Amino acid sequence: MNNTDISTALQSLRASVKKVGFICAMDCELDAVTKLFSDLTVKKYGSIDFFCGKICGIEAIAAKCGVGKVFAAICAQTMILGFSPDLIINTGVAGNLSDSLRIGDIALSSAVVQHDMDTSPLGDPVGLISGINKIELESDIPSAIVMSHCLDTIGINNAIGVIASGDQFIASHEKKKQIKENFGAISCEMEGAAVGHTCYANGVRFLVVRAISDDADNSSPDDFPAYCVKVSETSSRAILEFMKMIAQ
Ligand code: ADE
Repeated sequence: MNNTDISTALQSLRASVKKVGFICAMDCELDAVTKLFSDLTVKKYGSIDFFCGKICGIEAIAAKCGVGKVFAAICAQTMILGFSPDLIINTGVAGNLSDSLRIGDIALSSAVVQHDMDTSPLGDPVGLISGINKIELESDIPSAIVMSHCLDTIGINNAIGVIASGDQFIASHEKKKQIKENFGAISCEMEGAAVGHTCYANGVRFLVVRAISDDADNSSPDDFPAYCVKVSETSSRAILEFMKMIAQ
């Protein structure tokens, strides 16, 4: 990425992003976002508390969706209908599928896939979303470029690539290899692609920002609980820099 790419991306975000929504699966991930808010109020829709306020003077909404794709889609749809965000950022932690990332680094989505979507017995490629006929749903590229630049600036190693979601905690070498081979994904988690799918259906831009908590292998049952809170802080630092940057 050169300076022209970054300044073009930044210009586009500054012109069009006036309200940002954040969706997290777990409390530790949400806490890392809501601590950045000023003027905080809470609005409840259904069973979900939406935290409303400002980050660096930009309107923001944050909510905890719960674990898995269905909760994530319910939350994203409610947020879109209730608050009309210009951009939704799904943030939290993820399992690592990339040789260039380590625990504490950040994976940013260029696109999302649902690794457990499978109509291949009918002749479809694995991951194909029937109805829209796509495997990958593209993220907001200007947001990924600016977020990556912010992370570079504060010295956090990061990669932009496909993020794979499914209703499974990945903790084996075989499953990890399969997701990498099928989708070329750099990380795996359980909500990003459902947020992406909902945003795609509503014409809303989205980005997935995930701090690596484990290597999606047999060390994950120990590493995930050990690093979850600590690495969520890294996502929070990334978000603060991003909001600062687009507020200027
Ligand atoms: N979130 C964090 N680590 C994960 C893993 N290994 N699999 C799925 N989701 C995750």
